[in-house]
Amino acid sequence: MSSHRCNAFDDICNQNIEKNLRMNSIAEDSDDEYVSEEDVVTPWDVTSKSAKGIDYDKLIVRFGCSKINDDLISRIEALTQRKAHHLLRRGVFFSHRDFNELLNCYEKKQPFFLYTGRGPSSTSLHCGHLIPFIFTKWLQETFNVPLVIQLTDDEKYLWRDISFEDVRRATYENAKDIIACGFDVKKTFMFSDFAFLGQCPQFYQNVVRIQKNVTFNQVKGIFGFGDSDCIGKIAFPAVQAAPCFSSSFPFIFDSNQKVPCLIPCAIDQDPYFRMTRDVAPKMHFPKPSLIFSIFFPALQGAQTKMSASDPNSSIFLTDSPNQIKNKINKYAFSGGGSTIEEHRAKGGNCDVDISFQYLRFFMEDDERLEQIRKDYTRGELLTGHLKKELIEVLQKLVGEHQERRKQITDEMVAEFMKPRRLEI
Ligand code: TRP
Repeated sequence: MSSHRCNAFDDICNQNIEKNLRMNSIAEDSDDEYVSEEDVVTPWDVTSKSAKGIDYDKLIVRFGCSKINDDLISRIEALTQRKAHHLLRRGVFFSHRDFNELLNCYEKKQPFFLYTGRGPSSTSLHCGHLIPFIFTKWLQETFNVPLVIQLTDDEKYLWRDISFEDVRRATYENAKDIIACGFDVKKTFMFSDFAFLGQCPQFYQNVVRIQKNVTFNQVKGIFGFGDSDCIGKIAFPAVQAAPCFSSSFPFIFDSNQKVPCLIPCAIDQDPYFRMTRDVAPKMHFPKPSLIFSIFFPALQGAQTKMSASDPNSSIFLTDSPNQIKNKINKYAFSGGGSTIEEHRAKGGNCDVDISFQYLRFFMEDDERLEQIRKDYTRGELLTGHLKKELIEVLQKLVGEHQERRKQITDEMVAEFMKPRRLEI
């Protein structure tokens, strides 16, 4: 999710963006064209010229998905008898497709399952990569449903200049980080495409059925593929679509071909699932529901790209407490005044201050966060204070992650990746 951005901030495949934008901008009014010129959102690239980052309200209109409103959050809370996760309450997960349908299932005690994934392009994740997994874990616990996690090593091989050996290593290292987020092995199946596609005929059959039902014209329109793209890229979206269908996992769902699926992901992944939702009825399967997050900003500000090749653009899960402190102090973009006097007089801007934005993702204490927001906006707190708070929060988060990750053995990775019955 690029997310958090997972791969969206990785530097790949920029050549199609112009084309993609032309094809993706459905509305013809000038307002929408303005968005298209300003914000680029594809599975391979996310950029905005505004300091506040992407204009998500306009993006929702362009993609045709729905906003998560207070009614939906209240419904989730009422049904689950639990307070909504802070990533939902704070609008990090801000948009959806057919989430209400899933809640209808849950209300009727009908089964559904969760599906998320990651493109393993490098061995070390940054803290933004955790966002979809933290939220997915909460969904799994709250709804008590099976989860499948796809590691698209094939996607990374196709899109990047990376050898099979390097992508294999990245897959293994990423799998450990994902497991360290705390998923329940009894309810979670994780797979690498390279390993699993040859293992499960039903999965590959679904891939090919999807490929049979989507034309080159359609993927051109959705993804902006062109004549000089390799055929692997053109065929790949079917591989990311197949896990949306329960019949791809006969060892989990037996003969139940129609268990609905909910996908938590960053909104740049939507093109894959627009395509999936188009073909689902042709295959007589339910359309997947989605719940989308905003992107995780780079330390330098929401309009710059977070690049896996620039270690200073984010906090990595391998960073030491000192590295965390130094990076935040040195690079976290400040929304404060240029002098203390100016800051005291005019106050700070939480919308662009990266320390505040990171706290919004990671500080669990609502009251404390709100107090910080008020005091900073009024100019009573300086950026240095926000940085100090953030350093504490991230040192703890990263430190605890590293501790949990150390406990993950080869056997545990193998167990998560073994096709087997799940306990639900
Ligand atoms: N394409 C995603 C990436 O590069 C990986 C992915 C596969 C994924 N299936 C997914 C992400 C489902 C979210 C949901 O990161």
